[in-house]
Amino acid sequence: MTGLRSSREEVARLLRQKAELGPEALYLSGLSRGEALRLAATARAGAQALETSATLTRPVAASGTPKGRGSPAPTRQAVAAVTSSLPVLPASYVELREHALSCTRCRLSEGRTQVVFSDGVEHARVMVVGEAPGASEDETGVPFVGAAGKYLNLLLSTVGLSRADTVYIANVLKCRPPGNRNPMPDEIEACSPFLLKQIELVQPEVLLAVGSFSAQLLTGREKVALGKIRGEVHNYGGVPLVVTYHPAALLRNPKWTRPFWEDLQLLRQVLDGA
Ligand code: URA
Repeated sequence: MTGLRSSREEVARLLRQKAELGPEALYLSGLSRGEALRLAATARAGAQALETSATLTRPVAASGTPKGRGSPAPTRQAVAAVTSSLPVLPASYVELREHALSCTRCRLSEGRTQVVFSDGVEHARVMVVGEAPGASEDETGVPFVGAAGKYLNLLLSTVGLSRADTVYIANVLKCRPPGNRNPMPDEIEACSPFLLKQIELVQPEVLLAVGSFSAQLLTGREKVALGKIRGEVHNYGGVPLVVTYHPAALLRNPKWTRPFWEDLQLLRQVLDGA
């Protein structure tokens, strides 16, 4: 009975949104449209405040490294509240990266070739969060450089996003699990504080989690199927969060390409405040 009532409520909500937004609109069941746009506006205001203070105070940083940022903006404070309960990590981006590059917190450090910390631009508007490095990433030290990464780049480009100017990418795990097996809970526990600190320091306007591991970590919804939580805008510490399938899954199962692309449209809408 409860299930029936809640699916009726969902349908009613969908119909109200279609009436409000038109037939092409995407269904935002996690947050209402107004809530998602308010969240995005707050994230944008935070990023702009950082930009303004940065142009006054920020030193020039090496390419691909977020520069030191000025006074805390609203979203940064909210994200910091999430990370405040985690093990203490360096507060500066450069030190955080150095710390990660020499990390031995879990067994994966024993078999890795390289720690895979991130790729993309400083001041990224969008942060993409994947699962863990594969063989090509372990070899190069750069996330998403294999077949799945190339497909991800292509799909991102269809909504005007690129690591060259708008996107920063990192994984839940920074070291490759042997044979590309799934991350284990203790590995996620040991490694994810680096990712959460990266989110705090990069200050993206929108997060895109690809695959179940990053989606479950950032939504806090363990063991839920991705299909049940995609297609809506979530909230991670005040930052709008879209979750979708992993690009490697799309290569195995092309029928997921369409929902993936719809999720990218949703992300684009939130980014544009449209
Ligand atoms: N899959 C991921 O989740 N991350 C990578 O970096 C590569 C493949």
